[in-house]
Amino acid sequence: MTPVGIDAVEIWTGKLQLDLPETFAPAKDEDPDKYRKGIGLEHSSFPDTYEDIVTMGANAAKRLLERKGLTPSDIGRIDVATESAFDNSKPVSTYIAGCLEQYYDEDFRHANKGERKFACVAGTQSVDDAYNWIRAGRNRGRAALVIATDTALYARGDPGEATQGAGAVAMLIDENPDLVEISTEQGYGSMDETDFLKPNQQFPSVDGKRSMQVYLSRMREAVEDFESVAWDMHPDDFAYIPFHTPFPGMVRKAALLGYRHMSRDTELEDELADELGYQPRQDEYTSWDAYEEAIRDYMDELKDTDQYRAWYDKAIEPTLGISRHVGNWYTGSVHIARIAALKYAAETDRELAGEKLLIGSYGSGAQAEIHAETVQEGWREEIAELNIDAQIDARYDLSYEEYEQVHDRHNHDKTATDLEEFTEPEDEFVFTGWGRMSER
Ligand code: HMG
Repeated sequence: MTPVGIDAVEIWTGKLQLDLPETFAPAKDEDPDKYRKGIGLEHSSFPDTYEDIVTMGANAAKRLLERKGLTPSDIGRIDVATESAFDNSKPVSTYIAGCLEQYYDEDFRHANKGERKFACVAGTQSVDDAYNWIRAGRNRGRAALVIATDTALYARGDPGEATQGAGAVAMLIDENPDLVEISTEQGYGSMDETDFLKPNQQFPSVDGKRSMQVYLSRMREAVEDFESVAWDMHPDDFAYIPFHTPFPGMVRKAALLGYRHMSRDTELEDELADELGYQPRQDEYTSWDAYEEAIRDYMDELKDTDQYRAWYDKAIEPTLGISRHVGNWYTGSVHIARIAALKYAAETDRELAGEKLLIGSYGSGAQAEIHAETVQEGWREEIAELNIDAQIDARYDLSYEEYEQVHDRHNHDKTATDLEEFTEPEDEFVFTGWGRMSER
C-alpha cells in the first residue's frame, strides 16, 4: 500500500510573548515556580494587532507551499481546524485561500474547502479527513493542505489564563510523505462532556480540574481502542509520544498513566513491582478499594524510579520543547509536540527513519484519538527547513499592562480598542478588517 502521511509542516507563532514566571506571576502575586515547574510553561504567544487566525494560518501555509515549490493546482483540498472561528457561515479556509490567491497567479477554485470543529482534536480530525480522501483515491494526484490555527484565550482571572497561546501549524498531507506515514489503525475515546465549552461566547467556561480528569479518561479509552486493532503496546515501542499539550504539566500526568498501562503484564512491570513491593495481580487483594489504593501508591513511587525517569526524558520531554515557549495552540498543540520531538532528534543527531511515534490527540467536549506514525527517510531535511527558534526569539516581550491591552484587542470585537502594532510586519498577510486581509 502506498504510504500516506505528513509530507511537510510549517509553523507560525503569534509575534508577541508573555513571560509567565517573570511578568505574569508577579502581577498575579503567585510563585514563578507554579508556572515554570508546576504548569510547565515559560511563555505564551499572542497575536500582534495585525494578526489573527486567518493571517497566522495563511502565513504558515504560504511558507509551506513556497518551500515545497507547490502552487494552488497541486492542492485538492484545504481543511482548517480551529475553535476560534469568527464566522458561522464561511469557513476559515475560504479566507485563507483568498489570502493565498493574492500571492499566486492561480486560484483554488478546484479545491474542496472546509472547517473542522471539535475543540483541539479537530486538527487531527482534519489530518484524518485528508488521509481518508487520499486513501479513497479521490485526490487525483493532489495533496491536501491542513491548517490548525487558534487564538487560545481565557477570561482574565480564569485559572486557564496561564495556559493561553496563539499560532498556526500548516501541514501537507500526501502520498509517499517525507516526514511521517500515518497508521491505518486508530483508536477513539469519546463522550459528551461539559467541562470546557464556549456556547455563543468567546472565552471558554472551564472546570479546569475536571477537564484534566476527562482528558485522562478519554485518552485511556482511546489507547485501549487502538490496542484492540493494533497491538498491545510497550513503552519502548516508540521513539517519541507527542500528546495534546494544553500545558506540559498535563502531559506529565498522561505520560505516567500511559507508561503504567503499556508496561502492564510485561517483564518491565515485574521488575518495577519487585523493586517497589507492589503486587500487580488484582486477585491478590481482598477488595477493589485495596487494589486501587495499591495502584495509587505504586504510581506515586513509579514516577521516581530510574526506569520511568529515563523513559520520560527520552520519549516525552523532547515533545514539550516548543510548547513550553508558546502555550496552548489548541488545534495545533499536538502537531507542535510532534515537531518539537523531531526537531530535538535532529539537534541531537538521532537517526529516526523507520522508528515509530504514538500520537495522542485530545479535544474537550470530549474526544481522544490515538494513532501511530512511522518516521520517513526525508524527515531530517524537512525539519531542517523550520525556523521556529528564530520566530520564538523574535517575539516582542509584553509588559503586563501591554498584555492586558492585547487581550482586550483580541476580543471578538477586534475593533473595540485602537492599539498600535508592537512589531513590524514583513512580507506577510495582515489583518485589515473582517474579510479584508492583505499582504504587507
Ligand atoms: P490552577 O488551579 O491555577 O493550578 O490551574 P494548580 O494550583 O493546580 O497548580 C498547577 C500545578 O502547579 C500543580 O501541579 C501544583 O502542585 C503546581 P500538580 O499537582 O497538578 O502536578 N504548583 C507548583 N509547583 C511548583 N512550585 C509552586 C507551585 N504552585 C503550584 N510554587 C488548571 C490549573 C489546569 C486548572 C488551569 O490551568 C486551567 O483551568 N487550564 C485550562 C483547562 C486545561 O488546560 N485543561 C487541561 C485538560 S483539557 C484540554 O487539554 C483541552 C483544552 O486544550 C481545550 C480544547 O480541547 O479545546 C484545554
